Formats: sequence, structure tokens, C-alpha cells
Amino acid sequence: MNRSMKKAGLSLLGAAIILQSISMGASAAHQKQSGSPIYEKKIVNIAHRGASGYAPEHTIPAYQMGERMNGDYIEIDLQMTKDGRLIAMHDERVDRTTDGTGLVKDLTLAAIKKLDAGTWFNQKYPQLAKKEYEGIVVPTLEEVFRKFGREANYYIETKSPEVYPGMEEKLLKALKDNKMIDSRGKTKNVLIQSFSKESLLKIHELNPKLPLVQLFSYKNPAAISEKELQSIKGYAVGVGPNFNMVDRAYVKMVRNQGLQFHPYTVNERADMKKALEWGATGVFTNYPDLFNKVLREHKPNNAFNKKKE
Ligand code: G3P
Ligand code: CA
Repeated sequence: MNRSMKKAGLSLLGAAIILQSISMGASAAHQKQSGSPIYEKKIVNIAHRGASGYAPEHTIPAYQMGERMNGDYIEIDLQMTKDGRLIAMHDERVDRTTDGTGLVKDLTLAAIKKLDAGTWFNQKYPQLAKKEYEGIVVPTLEEVFRKFGREANYYIETKSPEVYPGMEEKLLKALKDNKMIDSRGKTKNVLIQSFSKESLLKIHELNPKLPLVQLFSYKNPAAISEKELQSIKGYAVGVGPNFNMVDRAYVKMVRNQGLQFHPYTVNERADMKKALEWGATGVFTNYPDLFNKVLREHKPNNAFNKKKE
């Protein structure tokens, strides 16, 4: 080999090393954090808005029920009040899940704390009604952290981030203040999800070690390209689409890229089985007890998913 060929070979090797380190850097979010359920368990059970099939969504009783049913994650949707406090609520308006009216962004936390977040559930679902749900309040994110501590796992969604500038910074501060992030910026018990790529990219920029999940809401049968998946891999560890619009091929594409696949909202036994057969690594469900049953039937010898005594 002459000198110029050697030189060219060395340059190629150097370029390959640089490319590899760039790709490793881009996938910083993919560093596996031991202790995190998405890496410790094969399949995770995400209590969607708490065990919201049984108790008023996004209330402490719904989250407690999710824990009792051995959900792996408490799913929390975030909205932000007029005075900049993060609360657990799905809608931008308080109307559906409280006795109040108006947009969260126009109401102070004090005003929201006066609302009843449980009676609507008793009226809508008399067969599931409980006296204790009457008058329960909307929890703040801080209150949820204080109640369930660092032993619990949280799957937190930045909802309508375009309506709430600064929401991401506040979320990261809350994680830090409550020691959900360690001194190296890592977490083992939090996943952050959003439909907004911008919101996820912002969080990734603020802390590239936080595991993120890109949500999708498809109106038609879904397809996803390798290019899209490569882009998602640059900042996220997984993908969460609406289950009713995906198929086996979609799941295969996602899983082939080494990404987690967490579809929502999977409430029927047949759909849970189908999601598992297709390779889901977790599901959002209002019925974590049912999903645990299906998991045990699906892989009875899987120690991770055995019934806890
Ligand atoms: O976060 C997954 C799933 O909850 C997204 O739908 O509308 O229930 O927040 P949504
Ligand atoms: Ca959600």
C-alpha cells in the first residue's frame, strides 16, 4: 500500500469514528438507565390518567388505584394555570372533569382548587360511584410527586405546550426539586411524552438524558417511514400512537429501529392481546388490572409479569 492510499484509509477510518460518535451523541436519550421499567421490564403497564376506568381521571384516588392494580407508570397530562402552576388535567378547559367552567390558562391555582373533580364521575358512572369522590380536588404535579414519591414511576405529557410558554422549564424544575433527576441529570422513574415535537426537542435540549416518547394522533390508517423514525431516534426512546390506526407492519418498523412502542388507549382484552402479539413494549390503559391479566396469559412464564403476591 503506497503512502497516499494509507493516508486515504486513515482519513476514512477517522471519518467513520467521527460519524459513529455523532450518532452515539444523537442517541444520548437512548442510554439505558438501570432501574427504569422500560428497560427492566419487557412490557410496561401505563395507568392512563390513573386507573381512569374505575375512578375520576387525574385525581389522587385514580392514581392510587393504578398503583394498587400494579400499573408500572402513573400517566399524567399537564396543563398550566394562570399563575404558572402545573396541574394534572387532560383538557385545556376545566368543564368536563370538574364542576367549574373556563380555560385552565385563565384560572389561578386557588380558583381551580375550589373545584370538585369527582362528582361528575359519580353522576356519569353511577355503578362506579363512591362517596369519597365527592369534592376531591385537582392535584398539582408537585402534590402528585409528594404523594407517590420516588418509588413510583411517572409518564408525563406536556399538553398544549404552545398555549403554555415555559411549561417545559417548569416541568424540569419540578423534577429536579423533587429529586426525580439525579445529580448527573438522569432519571429512572420518569418518561416524558408529547404530541408536540417542538416541546420534546426543547426538553431534549434542556436535558438530553431524559427519556422522551413521541405521541401521534392518526386520523387514518397509519404508516411511518424509516426517515421519520431516524429523526425520532435523535431525541426520543419511543413512539406512542393511537392503537386503532396502526397495524403489525407499523409496529415492526418502530421495533426494528430499537424504539419503544406504547400505543394508547388500549382498553379491550382483544386489543391488548393484539398489541402484545404485534410487539408492543407497553400500553396506555384505563384498566391496568385487565392488562396485567392479559400479560400473565400472554407470557405465563415471564417473571417480570407474574402476579405480585
Ligand atoms: O398520552 C397518551 C395518551 O394519553 C394520549 O392521549 O388524549 O389521552 O392524552 P390523551
Ligand atoms: Ca396523555
